[in-house]
Amino acid sequence: MCGIIAYTGRRQAAKVLYDGLTRLEYRGYDSAGIAVLNGWRLDCIKRAGRVCAIADARALAGTCGIGHTRWATHGGAEDKNAHPHVCGKFAVAHNGIIENYAALKAELSDMGHSFSSDTDSETVAHLLAASYRGDLLDAVGRTVGKLRGSFALCILCTDFPDAVVCVRQKSPLILGRAADGVLAASDVPALGGCGEICVLADSRIALLTPAGAELYSFSLARLPCVFAPNTLRASVCDKGGYAHFMRKEIEEEGAAVVRTAASFDEGAARRLCADGFSRVFLVGCGTAYHSALTGARLLEEGLRVPVRAELASEFCCRRPLLDRCSLVLAVSQSGETADTLAAGRLAKKYGARLAALTNAGHSSLSRLADHCFLTGAGVEVGVAATKTYAAQLAFFYAFYAFLRGQKAAYLQKFAAAHRKLLSREGEIRPLAAKLTGAQGVYFIGRGADHPSALEGSLKLREVSYLPGAGYAAGELKHGSIALMDGNTAVVAVATQKELKEKMKTSISEVRARGAFVVAVTPFDDIPADQVLSLPACPQRYYPLLTQVPLQLLAYHAAVCRGLDPDRPRHLAKSVTVE
Ligand code: G6P
Repeated sequence: MCGIIAYTGRRQAAKVLYDGLTRLEYRGYDSAGIAVLNGWRLDCIKRAGRVCAIADARALAGTCGIGHTRWATHGGAEDKNAHPHVCGKFAVAHNGIIENYAALKAELSDMGHSFSSDTDSETVAHLLAASYRGDLLDAVGRTVGKLRGSFALCILCTDFPDAVVCVRQKSPLILGRAADGVLAASDVPALGGCGEICVLADSRIALLTPAGAELYSFSLARLPCVFAPNTLRASVCDKGGYAHFMRKEIEEEGAAVVRTAASFDEGAARRLCADGFSRVFLVGCGTAYHSALTGARLLEEGLRVPVRAELASEFCCRRPLLDRCSLVLAVSQSGETADTLAAGRLAKKYGARLAALTNAGHSSLSRLADHCFLTGAGVEVGVAATKTYAAQLAFFYAFYAFLRGQKAAYLQKFAAAHRKLLSREGEIRPLAAKLTGAQGVYFIGRGADHPSALEGSLKLREVSYLPGAGYAAGELKHGSIALMDGNTAVVAVATQKELKEKMKTSISEVRARGAFVVAVTPFDDIPADQVLSLPACPQRYYPLLTQVPLQLLAYHAAVCRGLDPDRPRHLAKSVTVE
């Protein structure tokens, strides 16, 4: 992860970079830094903490510079590990992992270089300084030739006061052209003011000057640099009157679901199915994995072939049964999650077809995949996925309906049910406050409710830091019931009629051990201490409804604990390292 940005043009660079970094902060917020060239001089301000910790950097003078916001991998969240890293005439901002950094560092140390950080990234600045003979592109070309791993880089050199060199290898980087200059950034929202963008492919070097961008291969062959209109407006980063992006984005779920259903690409689905396949794997991480679990149930019923959801990181740890008759559908809101991309590459390596479900049409995943489906959630800024989860579920319902030769009519009605659920926020707020007093909060569900329990628990843990887990309700008695006592709370999701009696039993078992039980259910005979009732809907669609009160519960628990749900500790929205 980490977010990087560069600017060269007619404006004061530091202000442009600072503004861009605030829009990239979702990618990590352990430290931030800005370096600006002022004539032949290089000024750099960097510190541990969020982007606002370097607010004074906005005063740096100069029209060419680079910036960085960090999610720590190598080295703690300390000032010394903040980027940009400077060595001699060079300053570097890096996103990714230099896998062979230890060997490079040893080589450079033998040459007399001394390092001031614990990062893998600092080796890039030293390599550049060691390779430089007066030709900037030549030094970059020779440096990238020695790097292994994933890297998006923004590079300054004091001999070229209005130039930035950008590099992309497996970590995202997008160029933007504005009226006053040229930018590069890890994601489009940071290029809000740019009328045109150019998504860099892997193994590319871009030389940015106020006159424009030149593109090169790693062997320094000149390539055409093609820009396209930037369709994302700058206003997407607005909280729109809400205290947090997370709350605003929960509000936007109704529209996200309707848009996703309306834009379901039947043509692409038809082409995909026409290929024919005998087994399907859905892969994803975090929330995307949870939507894949629901997706797998629906697609298996619709396709009548085995469909399995797997954690992308685990998928790559074994040798899955992949061949030309397999389909891998990678689910990722950002389309940049390294584990999911690795799973996609593995699928292609063994001849399987790769489809993607993502919220980012310009992402690495959408370009890697043979078929790409887009969710219509719009940009999600809060680190915890909310409306993109709803949109992924909507996609799977639309796909299921397509496979059955129907329309997912309920998706059009979801907005009304969603409004109804939001109107019960007054009930959820005090309940969330009560849960913050528990020593552990456990979520249970059976069948179609199991993924909802996993996701509800993940949401609560990631934004409120309350300990807990999600369990298949039937598994509880095989071990985890040992956790239950008067200090624990259980959120029981019970929406499936044929499983209701079994859920009632699970609930009785935990209540008998003293746990406080909240039921999330449309039924009126669930023996819980408190009930969050769901409006009636076709049974299959309950996972879409269930997540609304569960997200609100997590949100209010975080707010009640005085935490910022938009920026949970140690997390980043887009995890671009494996
Ligand atoms: C990170 C985020 C999670 C997210 C996961 C997968 O860990 O903190 O909220 O679910 O990445 O992200 P993706 O962009 O692939 O859906």
